[in-house]
Amino acid sequence: MASENPIGIFDSGYGGLTVLKDIIHKLPQYDYLYMGDNARAPYGNRSFDTVYHYSLQCVKWFFKQGCPLVILACNTASAKALRTIQQNDLPTIDSAKRVLGVIRPTAEVIGNYSETKSVGILATSGTVASESYPMEIGKFFPDLKVYQEACPMWVPLIENNEHHSHGADYFVKKYMHSIFEKGEDIDVVLMACTHYPLLREKIEEYLPLGVKLISQGEIVAESLAHYLGRHPEIESRCGKKGSREFYTTDSTADFDNHATIFFGEPVQSKHIDLGV
Ligand code: DGL
Repeated sequence: MASENPIGIFDSGYGGLTVLKDIIHKLPQYDYLYMGDNARAPYGNRSFDTVYHYSLQCVKWFFKQGCPLVILACNTASAKALRTIQQNDLPTIDSAKRVLGVIRPTAEVIGNYSETKSVGILATSGTVASESYPMEIGKFFPDLKVYQEACPMWVPLIENNEHHSHGADYFVKKYMHSIFEKGEDIDVVLMACTHYPLLREKIEEYLPLGVKLISQGEIVAESLAHYLGRHPEIESRCGKKGSREFYTTDSTADFDNHATIFFGEPVQSKHIDLGV
C-alpha cells in the first residue's frame, strides 16, 4: 500500500538506488518513495542553474506526494542545488519540510578512513567543479589533502549498461591513473557519485595495494539514522508501513530493467510527467 508520508529519495537516474538499498537495510521500518529523473539524466555535465532548476522541480514533486523529508541521493544535485533549496526555497515552500544531501555526511567521516591524511574523490564534472568536497571536508578535517578527479564518462557508461565493457576499462584506467598521478600518497578513494558502486570491481583493479575504496550508501544510511534520532519532530511524521514506491520521468520498462542492477531486487516503477 502506498504511503502518505514516505521519505523521498531522489537521483538524476538510477544511482540513488544504491543509497536507498543501504538505507532500507539500516532503516527498514520507514516508507520510501524513490524518483529518478531519467528523462533528463545525466546531470553531471550540466550547468549549476540547470541542475538547480531540475532538482527543485523534483523536490516540489516529492513534497506534493506528502514527503516530510527528501534526500538528494545524488552528489551532483547535493553540490549544485541543495544549499539554495535549503536556504532560499524551503522557507517559502514549507519550512516544516527538510531536504538533505549526501556530501555533508560523507565529509564528516571520510578523514577517519585515512592514515596518510590524503584522500581521492572520484565524481562527476559538476561535483568536482563545485569544490563542495574540498570545502566540506576542510570543515571537519582541515589537515586532510583532497585530490579530485572528474570522471565524466562513467555515468553515461553505467546508465547505458556498458560498465562491464572494454570501453569502460579504458575510462576507468584513464581516471584512476590520473588521480594517483595527482596524489601518490592517497590511501582512501571515495566514489563520490552514487552510480559508481556499479564500477567497483573495475575500479578495484586499478587501486594500489592497501588503498581503501569507499562508497556512500552505508555512510548516508548511518547519518540518516542519527538525523531521525535527533529530530523527533521530523521522524514522527515519516510513514512507517515499510512501503516502497518507485517513479521515473522516463520509460518504466527501461527503469525496471536497469533498476534491478542498482537496487539488487526487482522493481516496478510508475511514470511521472513533470510537465517539461
Ligand atoms: N548519481 C549522481 C551523483 O551522485 C549523478 C549522476 C549524473 O551525472 O546524473 O552525482
